[in-house]
Amino acid sequence: MDQGAARRLVAGASRIVGFTGAGISTESGVPDFRSPNGVWARNRIVDFQEFVSSEAGRVEYWRQKVAAWPAMRDAEPNAGHHAFVELHGQGRLEALITQNIDRLHQRSGLPAGAVLELHGATTEAVCLSCGDAIDFDEACRRVEAGETAPRCRPCGGLLKPATVSFGQAMPRDVMTRAEAAAETCDLLLAVGSSLVVEPAASIPRIARRAGACLIIVNRDPTPLDGMADAVLRGEISAVLPGLVHRDG
Ligand code: APR
Repeated sequence: MDQGAARRLVAGASRIVGFTGAGISTESGVPDFRSPNGVWARNRIVDFQEFVSSEAGRVEYWRQKVAAWPAMRDAEPNAGHHAFVELHGQGRLEALITQNIDRLHQRSGLPAGAVLELHGATTEAVCLSCGDAIDFDEACRRVEAGETAPRCRPCGGLLKPATVSFGQAMPRDVMTRAEAAAETCDLLLAVGSSLVVEPAASIPRIARRAGACLIIVNRDPTPLDGMADAVLRGEISAVLPGLVHRDG
């Protein structure tokens, strides 16, 4: 299906759900995970079990997070993020479900209530024992000052960024809302995700099974391309604005 036909599908939809992955932020300077220059090309995965059981694992986890933070903190939303704001302004965006932890959707102007963050956000570090939270900048400063795996000052528990690691439970309420949005939308627009990480990647499948159209915008192939009504390959900033923009 060509871009014109995909555009007509978007134009005819009234209950759209966006589903985004790290690809939507690469043009803002935040690397994705699975591209050749992505996070997993340079770092090993420290999963949740290793984080809670190994000091060396925690040190490595925090090293990665502190190294990645300046690019994320200083990033500005790009045309891909703004395209979803435009859909919201048209009154057609039911929800924006994201795997991203960079807050760029909210910073581009989407109301917080419209954004469902499946993997948390890099805004603070939270104690796994007592739930006390500190600002993420402060946590990074403490790591850089020598607390290589910082602990909670009130209780001594493990401080962890408020993001979801492999092997860590997803926020159940957010997942429930995301599934409900996927079940009731008439179009799911999946943008900038390799669609390989579960359970997040089940969201576009749920929408498709419930009868919604599925459009995938991504540079590389995904395992869900075969079930999509349209697959648009290219840079998000070049494809997405034209897809959602209404003439006149
Ligand atoms: N335009 C179009 N596509 C792009 C662009 C771009 N500018 N930049 C990257 N992409 C595509 C890549 O080709 C890739 O298929 O976006 C996809 C990003 O995939 P991943 O790196 O796997 O990111 P994501 O799908 O968000 O990963 C899911 O895995 O490790 C984790 O928890 C992390 O939430 C993340 C999850």
